[in-house]
Order: sequence, then structure tokens, then C-alpha cells
Amino acid sequence: MLERPRRLRQSSHLRKMVRETRMDKSSLIYPMFIKEGIGIVEEIPSMEGQYRYSIDKMSYKLEELAKAGVNSVMFFGIPNDKDHIGSGAAAQNGIVQEALREAKKRFPDMYFITDVCMCEYTSHGHCGLLKGTEVDNDSTLKALAQIALTHVQAGADMVAPSDMMDGRVRAIRSRLDENGYQNVPIMSYAVKYASSFYAPFRDAAGSAPSFGDRKSYQMDYHNRNEAIKEAILDVNEGADIIMVKPAMTYLDIVREVRDAVNVPVAAYSVSGEYAMVKSGAKLNCIDEEKVICEMATSVYRAGAGIYLTYFAEQIAGFMDKGYIG
Ligand code: PBG
Repeated sequence: MLERPRRLRQSSHLRKMVRETRMDKSSLIYPMFIKEGIGIVEEIPSMEGQYRYSIDKMSYKLEELAKAGVNSVMFFGIPNDKDHIGSGAAAQNGIVQEALREAKKRFPDMYFITDVCMCEYTSHGHCGLLKGTEVDNDSTLKALAQIALTHVQAGADMVAPSDMMDGRVRAIRSRLDENGYQNVPIMSYAVKYASSFYAPFRDAAGSAPSFGDRKSYQMDYHNRNEAIKEAILDVNEGADIIMVKPAMTYLDIVREVRDAVNVPVAAYSVSGEYAMVKSGAKLNCIDEEKVICEMATSVYRAGAGIYLTYFAEQIAGFMDKGYIG
């Protein structure tokens, strides 16, 4: 026998030498929920181990992340008041805007990304403005651009639109450029499927739609070509990074998008993926640490260079221990 694949698997030293997938803490992004109020550290029932923090309580978590080597965070805001047009999303003293000011002051070396969307701020829970019972694309674009601008003015290092309106990357890019923010990158949730894996998030953020669903704007999960179309459209509108979401059940899409565009590709392991691992581990069906390592590696192996995950801190620890990396 000339070919013996087992030859290269004989020691851990050799296995590491020939590894095809390498990853690094600098590519991890931790999604974090910031809630209006004081003294809040409340566990999210459907996401054991994840919390909503008020601004005065978020520093402890940010410190912990920085210590673990996770220096990029994505903020989601949970406002006290919602209205029909989601006006809290673009308020100068909105929850995300205030959190950014505080975070940038206290953690100048960390990198803060914001989710740009309306669903946490609208009383109806949809990601855009309504016309009747329809989510109206074009009037929503203006609102999104304004939200993004207020985030950047408050210190956001990068903005990440997740609403899935057509043309929003261009609208945001123009608004930022007109205001002198040419160098603030946009990470577009370009390929975002209408997924049941977001359920724990909606519970965490109180953002479930009060009627209907998101299928008129988020993508049908039967589709692959459409993913490439969305990704290329957003690159052409000025997106700097393209995201695929969810991650685990869409790794084929991560690979195809990676091959189709020439910008960095991110994948978001969403709340339902997190919740499944936690509950499986609790039932002793799976080994939590090992499954997290395997899931994370699969995302990079599929072609993502950036990974958004609620397990970011744990993964950084596993990299330190040499389990993966
Ligand atoms: C906001 C948004 C959602 C997620 C990220 N941004 C929810 C949704 O589209 O309903 C989901 C994240 C997760 O499930 O972890 N539109």
C-alpha cells in the first residue's frame, strides 16, 4: 500500500501540523443583549448562560470577554418602549447609542458592532415600517440609514443591518458617506434565512412579530441560488463583509457564498443552535465542550473567516487549551 491516510494521524503533533482549518480568536464576535434600565443582569430563560445586561452592568461581561481574548462584540438593544415606527431605534439617547458611548469610553481597545434593525423597537415586531399589514421596503430604507448613522455617531466601529430589506446596504453606505463616515465598514446579514432557529433570540429580545411571519423579507430555506444573488447584490451595494445566518444548517451556503464573493464571509451561529447544545448537554446526550469545538470548526471549514457565536468566550478558552485552532 502506497497511500495510508492513517500515517498522518499517528500523533497529536502531526495531526496539528497537517490541519487544514486554522482559526483564531480575532475572528470571534460575541452577540450581547443590552437592556434599558439599571442594575439588570437577568438570565434569558431559553438561553441558559446568556444574560440581558443594563448599561451599568455590562462592563463586567466586557472585561471577562477581553480577558478571554474576545475583543469584538455585537450589541442588540432592548428598549423599554416600542411604537409603531420603531422610533427608539434611531434615538440619540437610545439604548444601543448610550451603551456604545459607555463601552467606547471604558473599553477603547474593544471593537463594537451594532445590529441595525427595527424589530426590537416596533410594537408589531416586524423588521421594517408597515403599510397596512405589509412591511414596506422603500420607506424602511430611510429609517435604517438613520439608525445606522446614530449608531456610528455614538461610536459604533461597524454596523450590521439584519432587516433584509432590498437596497439597505446602499442606503446605509450613502448616509454614512454623506456624514463623513467613509471608513466605517458594513457587515451585511446578506444571506439571512427565515429560520425557526431564531426563536430563543426573539424571546430574549422580545422581538417576535405580533402577526404573520418574516417570510416576505427573510429567505426561503429551500434556496441556494438566491443566496448567491443576495450576497453579490450586497457586495455591489458596498457591503464589506457578507454574513450567512444561521450557521449550522447552512454550511453548504457558507461554502458557496465563500466561493462566489471576494470579501470576508461571516457565519452566525444563532440562538437556537446555542439552545440545542445547552439542552442536549443538560440531558447528558452530548459532551458540551466537544460539540462546541466541532460546531465552531465546521463553520470555518465551510469557509467562514468570521464567527458570531454566544459561545465565543468558551471557544477562546478551547483555543488556549489547544483543543481547536
Ligand atoms: C434582528 C435579528 C434577529 C437575529 C439577529 N438579528 C432575529 C430575527 O430576525 O428574528 C437572530 C439572532 C439569533 O437567533 O441568535 N432582526
